[in-house]
Amino acid sequence: MRIANTGETLREILNGHDSKRVLVPTMGALHEGHLVLMRSARNVAGPRGMVIVSIFVNPIQFDRAADLEAYPKPLEEDLAACEKEGVDVVFAPQTDAMYFADRSVTVTESLLSAGLCGATRPGHFDGVCTVVLKLFLISGCNAAVFGEKDFQQLAIIRRMIRDLDVPVKIIECPTVREHDGLAMSSRNVRLTSAQRADAPRIQRSLLAAAQCNDIPQILEIARAGIEASPLTCIDYLLLVDAETLQPATTLKRQAVLAVAVFYGDVRLIDHVII
Ligand code: PAJ
Repeated sequence: MRIANTGETLREILNGHDSKRVLVPTMGALHEGHLVLMRSARNVAGPRGMVIVSIFVNPIQFDRAADLEAYPKPLEEDLAACEKEGVDVVFAPQTDAMYFADRSVTVTESLLSAGLCGATRPGHFDGVCTVVLKLFLISGCNAAVFGEKDFQQLAIIRRMIRDLDVPVKIIECPTVREHDGLAMSSRNVRLTSAQRADAPRIQRSLLAAAQCNDIPQILEIARAGIEASPLTCIDYLLLVDAETLQPATTLKRQAVLAVAVFYGDVRLIDHVII
């Protein structure tokens, strides 16, 4: 496995490899959810193709300085995990290798980003789109793998690809969960043991709500289930149209019940398809 810290080194490593390049963009603190993405990347790349994992805690997608500061960065363990998964190249740049101090171009998606995480995290998806497009261009990948867990991020990246004619195939992987149903997240390690024990209620509440066929009742059951714990604070709880991400007005079309919940200052997201 090779490691590149700059775009130039990455290009040098990849130079001459005409085989398929499949990128898995991550912010590190790798868990099983990320490893599933890497396996899917290998499937797509084939044994002779290149699987590239980027590890970069992208500062421009963090709306809270404290969240960026507290984001776990266990690089050595991450590299070992990539090696074990048979990754060909890890791209792990420092911030100054990614961004000029006077950078002035940003990719903005303005429709799907407006609600959900975009509403409560201003600038977040501009940061995501900008870094993802840069990673596509630096790696010259043909395909890239993303988790369905961040379904709004996935929808926005698909829109960016479509609207900017980016020649990268997007591959989607289902959400990987802990045994008790909590969606795996790099932020889970920051939960206290009481918060961690409580957190499966997020998925439980969403699943219970999904049994109903009335929009106000769905929202009420989910809210009641999550707020039954004194440890939670709901950032948003919304039922949105699966395609437009606008608030759902009917259950005749596929909808997504999506939530962001704070446990202290740790923000977790989850959703169910209805
Ligand atoms: P990060 O949160 O590290 O996630 C990297 C990828 O792993 C994303 O595609 C995410 O959807 C996927 N992922 C995370 N948890 C998962 C789980 N439990 N099951 C399945 N997939 C999971 O998302 C980002 O980083 C960043 O925004 C990034 C795209 C790298 C841009 O900076």
